[in-house]
Amino acid sequence: MSILVFAGSLRKDSLNKKLARIVAKEIKEKNFEVELIELNNFEMPIYDGDIEEKGFPEKVMEFREKFEKAEGVFIITPEYNFSIPGGLKNIIDWLSRKKNLMDSKVIAIGGASNGRFGTIRVQTHFKEILLLLNAKIIGYPSLLIVNGNSAFDSEGNLVNENDVKAMKKLVEVFLQQIKKD
Ligand SMILES: Cc1cc2nc3c(=O)[nH]c(=O)nc-3n(C[C@H](O)[C@H](O)[C@H](O)COP(=O)(O)O)c2cc1C
Repeated sequence: MSILVFAGSLRKDSLNKKLARIVAKEIKEKNFEVELIELNNFEMPIYDGDIEEKGFPEKVMEFREKFEKAEGVFIITPEYNFSIPGGLKNIIDWLSRKKNLMDSKVIAIGGASNGRFGTIRVQTHFKEILLLLNAKIIGYPSLLIVNGNSAFDSEGNLVNENDVKAMKKLVEVFLQQIKKD
């Protein structure tokens, strides 16, 4: 049993991948087993009922297995056009089929954007979807990294003390919820 962490961006220099690495490190330091994965390794087709009828594709199966066995999932999402990146939403669609794997799963959401709103709109939207899928979503506190291009140093650490505090606080509340479960 371990905790799954991933970012919703594929980009090599992704701000959200940097944040995912920081979150995974923090979880590990709290003595939880953590698996940090990259969506680049889970290329899957756009959800299609005809494909599903023939059976889940291999990468979908692989991702579903990781998600299902995780005690909790921490997703770091970019905001695309005020909403969830298509690739990430596609994964949620695949995970919701046959057995809805979000049901009762403890899930935390964080995100980084280079704008002034730090993914607040996608997070609110994403949390609503996950709630309707019956996930145990951590609603508060928030992890919103604004002005992301100057929020990390050259080694990928958060430079702003308040950002570090927000990251630690959300990890703490997320892990407390997992312990309670
Ligand atoms: C298709 C697209 C749509 C975007 N829409 C938004 C948006 O609605 N709000 C926002 O804050 N940033 C938006 N951005 C800018 C992203 O926050 C920025 O590209 C960020 O670096 C993406 O995350 P990443 O660094 O993890 O790849 C958008 C970027 C792309 C490529």
